[in-house]
Amino acid sequence: MALIEIKDLVKSYRVYQKKEGLWSSLRGLFHREYREVRAVRGIDLQVEQGEFVAFLGPNGAGKTTTLKLLSGVISPTSGTATVMGATPWKRENAYRRRFALVMGQKNQLWWDLPAQESFRLHQQIYRIPPDDFKATMDELVDLLEIRRLLKQPVRELSLGERMKMELTAALLHSPEVLFLDEPTIGLDVVAQHNIQRFLKYYQEKRKITILLTSHYMKDVAALCKRVVIIANGQIKYDGSLSGVIDKFSGYKIISVQFPDNVPLENLEQYGEVLEVQPPKAKIRIERSKVPKMLADLLSNYPIEDVAVEDLPLEDVIAEMFALVNRREDADGYEEPQVGAISD
Ligand SMILES: Nc1ncnc2c1ncn2[C@@H]1O[C@H](COP(=O)(O)OP(=O)(O)OP(=O)(O)O)[C@@H](O)[C@H]1O
Ligand SMILES: [Mg+2]
Repeated sequence: MALIEIKDLVKSYRVYQKKEGLWSSLRGLFHREYREVRAVRGIDLQVEQGEFVAFLGPNGAGKTTTLKLLSGVISPTSGTATVMGATPWKRENAYRRRFALVMGQKNQLWWDLPAQESFRLHQQIYRIPPDDFKATMDELVDLLEIRRLLKQPVRELSLGERMKMELTAALLHSPEVLFLDEPTIGLDVVAQHNIQRFLKYYQEKRKITILLTSHYMKDVAALCKRVVIIANGQIKYDGSLSGVIDKFSGYKIISVQFPDNVPLENLEQYGEVLEVQPPKAKIRIERSKVPKMLADLLSNYPIEDVAVEDLPLEDVIAEMFALVNRREDADGYEEPQVGAISD
């Protein structure tokens, strides 16, 4: 059995619909209308021990909901999941001590206390033996270079510093599984890089299993071999990062260098001209048309140099997200289901 096993997991939220107008408000006191939001719509996933998996998808795709289910913060509508053999939403203490959840958008430390105090509380809650606690804390604090900040109230720390404290707190009990929900959100490039470096080092050293969500492709490229793409509560792709480009990119970029200038309109027949720096040009063209275009170019123009490249990963992901959303709109798939439920 895999370390994380998810089978046909479904989570729907019932959202109260407030109607406008006095009459509707009064009526709402007795007869509430709810809309069902199907956040996760039947996910199957297996993750092996020691994997570092990226969980990608557009806003509202169901990533956070899935991580909350796996952390036992919420229970599913149907389906099953086990992590290290435990069912998360049973909230057994034995499971609680073996995983951690870090959410970049949420502060989990006590705002007015220095981080060190929060760490001590964690020690009590997780019953970490004093020697282990000291050794683990020292290691994390040195790796993340936060020793001088330990005595400062958390509310006074910068976002990047706070994130480092959050990570330290989460790792104090040496969890074997870590769920990271946008740990680098809002951080500058340097801080992002620091967190990436730390996670890479720590994961390789401890061989822990990590599920990471992020909207920054740099995080994903730096850390994860395996990528799971989720949209509208369903898994659309599960495989390697390079496979994402192969599967979803309908375009390639061709860079050509001519000995002399070539009129722009001659190039525009092939695709979108992205950049012209005479006598060089970059053209974005449909993948299926690449061979014909190359043959055409070579037979019609003298050419000094030519290169075929993939679109940057960010562009491919954006293209893919747009495609998925368009498709589901066309299916009428996202139609809210309004059902009147009396309570
Ligand atoms: N507590 C809740 N009550 C009602 N609806 C919710 C709740 N939490 C999430 N949703 C809805 O479920 C869907 C999935 O949300 P989720 O937070 O899992 O998305 P996400 O993939 O994490 O998106 P993002 O990239 O923006 O963080 C959204 O449509 C959201 O509005
Ligand atoms: Mg989210």
